[in-house]
Amino acid sequence: MRNVAVFVGSLRNGSINQKLAKALAKLGRGQFAFTFVELGDLPMFNQDLEANLPSSVVRMKEEIVAADAVLFVTPEHNRSIPAVLKNAIDWGTRPWGQNSWAGKPGSIIGTSPGNVGTAAGQAHLRSVMTVLDVVLLGQPEVYFVTTPGLIDDNDDITDDATRQFLEGYLARFATWIDQVTQYEEKVRQKVA
Ligand code: FNR
Repeated sequence: MRNVAVFVGSLRNGSINQKLAKALAKLGRGQFAFTFVELGDLPMFNQDLEANLPSSVVRMKEEIVAADAVLFVTPEHNRSIPAVLKNAIDWGTRPWGQNSWAGKPGSIIGTSPGNVGTAAGQAHLRSVMTVLDVVLLGQPEVYFVTTPGLIDDNDDITDDATRQFLEGYLARFATWIDQVTQYEEKVRQKVA
């Protein structure tokens, strides 16, 4: 079982990204245990707060460290990532020298109702992940275009081809987590 910390870049009730994340959690049962990380209680980043880290930040950083992998499920806001997600990412890197993200296997997916399906936002997020040292799954990219009824009230994907595609994506992510974890362990042994 792979423990995955999930970061959804939308706080709103009825978020289609929350819905997609829940559908993935259901589809991946047996391979993954998803923990949905709360982002709404994080204060806006302020370096003055670093001397006495807010409890919500400490909690989030602990959830990252405890996870085998991280998964970002995010909308695109104005061709980039939502501020709520960037805020969480920045807190996770601080204070200096205490980057909680380092070495974590990770993946990015997202959904919008529009045909570009978060491609521009995901590209921004990928470039940020490089400096965090999150080891990102490259393929398949998932630009999920939400249409009415595609995910039903039970968080099931109603279209067979879409469901099979997401099952394939999750299988690749599982293998990726295992491979990166083995690699990071070897690096740790050489350093120790
Ligand atoms: C959007 N939306 C949007 N969609 C898109 O495909 N590209 C974009 O650049 C943007 N920009 C944007 C900015 C802001 C501030 C908002 C609120 C929305 C639309 C967006 O895809 C849509 O609202 C989704 O429903 C947002 O995802 P959640 O919140 O439902 O998960």
